[in-house]
Amino acid sequence: MLHIPQFHGVAGAYPGPVTGPPSKLSRFSNSFFRAMEVLVRDVTGGRHQLVPMTLLEILRGSKDYLKRSGVQAARLEAEVLLAHVLGLTRLDLYLQFDRPLTEPELTDLRSLLRRRAGGMPVAYLTGEREFFGLRFSVREGVLIPRPESELVVELALARQAAGARTIVGADLGTGSGCLGIAIAVGAPSARIDAVDISPTAVQVARSNAAQLGVSDRVTVLQGSWGQPLAGRGPYNLIVSNPPYVTSLELMALEPGVRDFEPKLALDAGRDGLVPYRDLLVELSKLAAPDATVLLEVDPRRSGAVAKLAWESWPSAALKLHRDPSGRERVLEVTLG
Ligand SMILES: C[S@@+](CC[C@H](N)C(=O)[O-])C[C@H]1O[C@@H](n2cnc3c(N)ncnc32)[C@H](O)[C@@H]1O
Repeated sequence: MLHIPQFHGVAGAYPGPVTGPPSKLSRFSNSFFRAMEVLVRDVTGGRHQLVPMTLLEILRGSKDYLKRSGVQAARLEAEVLLAHVLGLTRLDLYLQFDRPLTEPELTDLRSLLRRRAGGMPVAYLTGEREFFGLRFSVREGVLIPRPESELVVELALARQAAGARTIVGADLGTGSGCLGIAIAVGAPSARIDAVDISPTAVQVARSNAAQLGVSDRVTVLQGSWGQPLAGRGPYNLIVSNPPYVTSLELMALEPGVRDFEPKLALDAGRDGLVPYRDLLVELSKLAAPDATVLLEVDPRRSGAVAKLAWESWPSAALKLHRDPSGRERVLEVTLG
């Protein structure tokens, strides 16, 4: 008969169910988290021995655990978390499926899996997110860059190339700094002033500018929209991805976003347009006569933002650009 011994050495690390009778998930978590510690195997004729689980076994268990916790891309996220703990790329994992994990590695992984199952976005757990092919550090208090925002960077770089002009740009509501920094990396002569009202965002954006080698050309300032830029313009490129979720929509967002990402980066008031009104008032003072303004918009309110821009600049050319999923995502305003 197979004898499964009691394990005492790592009991403190095991998260266990919180209260009440065990749910299906907590029963599964119990056995999975315990199984991560050791696995009993029949290795020789009738004798049993304790053998650490291999990376592949842990990956499979982690995926099942996340899946049962409601995580959609469970396999991918299990790979990302495991690779993060081991300091490997996801590809490296595939080359090391047979290796065992050390107890400190397992402890780290357990903690990440438990927090992911509680809804925390993977980017906050790993502390980074790729954007426009660049690695940005992120942490709680700063919006995680979204792939659809890459369209703003693509358009900015395309306009610069077409006009052969040096970008003197402003990125308003910079967050992690992803828009302004990606533009500065893509256009080596560009100079960008990036602004955010959140001190955490300012700190993270500065650190990303340094990490990505553009802190000499990207200046990050704290304040509300254009206020810290008084006397620094005019700018021939202004980009912004302001908050654009209505207060009501905010409550219905998926919990990972609603409960963990900063409300300051999302909440755009009753009609989802408050930041655009504030911004547009200030943009008129900052923009050069021939400036290009690129504003990310919620596709449901693209027309409403275009109307606000037209009211500010009746003679400007307005164009709405679609993101890869075909939705109107960026409003381009060409002055002059
Ligand atoms: C939707 S997030 C965009 C962040 C980043 N640009 C991106 O694309 O990932 C909006 C950002 O605007 C900032 N913000 C909100 N109100 C602001 C204000 N009055 N002045 C400056 N920044 C503001 C938030 O802190 C947040 O970082």
